[in-house]
Amino acid sequence: MKIAIIGTGNVGQALGSGWAQQGHDIVFGSRDPQSEKVQALLAEVGETAVAAAIPEAVAAAEVVVLAIPWSGVQNTAESIADWGGKLLIDATNPIAPGFTLAFGKDVSGAEMVAHWAKGARVVKAFNTTGAETMSHPRYGDQSSTMFIAGDDPAAKQTVTRLAEALGFDVADVGALQTARYLEPLAMVWIHLAMVQGNGRHIAFKLLRRE
Ligand SMILES: NC(=O)c1ccc[n+]([C@@H]2O[C@H](COP(=O)([O-])OP(=O)(O)OC[C@H]3O[C@@H](n4cnc5c(N)ncnc54)[C@H](OP(=O)(O)O)[C@@H]3O)[C@@H](O)[C@H]2O)c1
Repeated sequence: MKIAIIGTGNVGQALGSGWAQQGHDIVFGSRDPQSEKVQALLAEVGETAVAAAIPEAVAAAEVVVLAIPWSGVQNTAESIADWGGKLLIDATNPIAPGFTLAFGKDVSGAEMVAHWAKGARVVKAFNTTGAETMSHPRYGDQSSTMFIAGDDPAAKQTVTRLAEALGFDVADVGALQTARYLEPLAMVWIHLAMVQGNGRHIAFKLLRRE
């Protein structure tokens, strides 16, 4: 599958490396695809990965992952005039200055992304755990859980397959509106990891009684 990852930071690297190892074609969408930083990332991810300007990366891919800081999300989503039904995985968290959520009760960041990215089929995923766990979703013999939300069942099936291929157990929380619960869950992770001092190698697991 051709996957564009917009953002060449922690999340982009973790997901891009994992999917490249699974044989997917990765194109990183970057504001500066020729930069030393991006060239170093390509060398790390492997020879099949390429980088391009964001519009070219989106045009080349079947699935697009948004993995950039919240401050750049609206401009980036609106820079593509028509997403043409493309699957857009929103891995961002709408974190405002002061480390608070910019949205929550009445609307989620994911719903704002869907509003800005006209014509995209948006699925919220990869926002409730750290990049280190995206690289290594298994903890001993357990798979950590990746929660997803979205309105399009086929799009969620694709995201489920992609997350499972990395080693996650997937829990579909519901419609895109339920991203209003997943974004605060990311804040729980952030507080546990960074404020309470548990470190970044922690992850959520949904337990099911057989
Ligand atoms: N870090 C985590 O563990 C983690 C976990 C879950 C979710 N998230 C969320 O995922 C997103 C990415 O996190 P990250 O840690 O990977 O971020 P990051 O490393 O700080 O940045 C990711 C990339 O985004 C691009 N970028 C930066 N500012 C931009 C702007 N204004 N407009 C467009 N592109 C911009 C840059 O790539 P180029 O310079 O190549 O354009 C940068 O390398 C955030 O929304 C974060 O809240 C992070």
